[in-house]
Amino acid sequence: MKVQFTETILRDANQSLIATRMTYDEFAPILETLDKAGYYSLECWGGAVFDSCLRYLNEDPWERLRKIRSACPNTKLQMLLRGQNLLGYKHYPDDVVRMFVKKSVENGIDIIRIFDALNDIRNIEVAVDETIKNGAIASGAICFTISPIHNLESYVKLAKQMEDMGVGSIAIKDMAGIMGPQEAFDLVKALKENVKVPIVCHTHSTTGLGLVTLVKAVEAGADVVDTAISSFSGGTSQPPTETLAYALEQLGYENELNMDAVNEVNQFFKEYKDEAIKSGLLNPVVLATDTDALNYQIPGGMLSNLVAQLTAQNKLDKLQEVLEETPRVREDMGFPPLVTPMSQMVGVQAATNVLTGKRYKNISKEVKSYIRGEYGKAPGKIDKELQKTVLGDEKPITTRFADTLEPSFEKTKKQLGDVAKNDEDVLSYIAFPAQAEDFFKKRDEIEKNTFKYTIEQIG
Ligand code: CO
Repeated sequence: MKVQFTETILRDANQSLIATRMTYDEFAPILETLDKAGYYSLECWGGAVFDSCLRYLNEDPWERLRKIRSACPNTKLQMLLRGQNLLGYKHYPDDVVRMFVKKSVENGIDIIRIFDALNDIRNIEVAVDETIKNGAIASGAICFTISPIHNLESYVKLAKQMEDMGVGSIAIKDMAGIMGPQEAFDLVKALKENVKVPIVCHTHSTTGLGLVTLVKAVEAGADVVDTAISSFSGGTSQPPTETLAYALEQLGYENELNMDAVNEVNQFFKEYKDEAIKSGLLNPVVLATDTDALNYQIPGGMLSNLVAQLTAQNKLDKLQEVLEETPRVREDMGFPPLVTPMSQMVGVQAATNVLTGKRYKNISKEVKSYIRGEYGKAPGKIDKELQKTVLGDEKPITTRFADTLEPSFEKTKKQLGDVAKNDEDVLSYIAFPAQAEDFFKKRDEIEKNTFKYTIEQIG
């Protein structure tokens, strides 16, 4: 029996513990060792990496990818993509999605894990298709959530649809760390019985369930697990790589990890972590175990947002009422998985319902768009009354929202002219216009100065 590991240190662990603030130069010295560690893949791009590079780190995200690629020629590089939303929350037209996927693969990505917050298959199909066309592996991700309408049958159905699209693997994505060991066991087993492609399991240690959940996932036949190097594991990050490998070896599961290299990687990030705690970049609170998410069945991040929101309005005494209203709002909205942006939409609406004293007296713009069908198909039925309040006699959209969008890549390229040096720049701009523009300006400044400096030196 064999199990493989995806290391998340460069993406999810970095994102979950220190808000993706690790620069390329900071982790560059350990890339060669990471490449020798025997991982199935190295998750290193997508998610918040792109935004953070442009917004905070003054790095070209595409260049970061190319540099990782050349330093790690032997390991598959993996990214996370939000289907038709790419790296953000709005839907992009198909030509942009296709170009983004094509360029990601061209610049070095081997595996693209693709998901949709609503598990609406129509929102991942274009990205999956383009990934396969470009010779990379599309990994179809199922957002795991708990509700009366989400069950083994619905997840298996989704996995089969993904397999029919040609995905190379199916990933179970438990973004909130609320999947228990029995749920993991049952789900992996059901998937193994119904689809042929490898099954990957992704969770977070937030509630403390992570390790035991992954062990049971492997016992049920999971082929790959996502873990973080131990010095950057636990809390809101993934369970520890070395600990899980040790436990699984004891249970008779072999792996291909080169433990000398893994230990070296750990030592490197241990030093980085000590510095990050000292500088305040890493707040030790995120490393703690927080079981509130299990009691309320809502993700930890959503709970802390609610607390912050109520505190800001001096209404923390309403927390219990808001927590009771949250599942009701979720039900009214057809049980969306509580992942960004749905978790924020449901949380804010529940708080508004309580604070105004009248349910749906105020409805946010986002919730209105959701009910109009602009985010995709709700997993369950949207409450009739709520639908009527928002839409009146208007009918919700039943077609795929992206079908209503005009192609925009070539148009934006023309618009940008010399500002964009290549197609990758155009994509950066489409994804995060203001941040990309700022970044292009700073980059031009640096180039000018470097040029001046070189001339002076020669002169
Ligand atoms: Co995650």
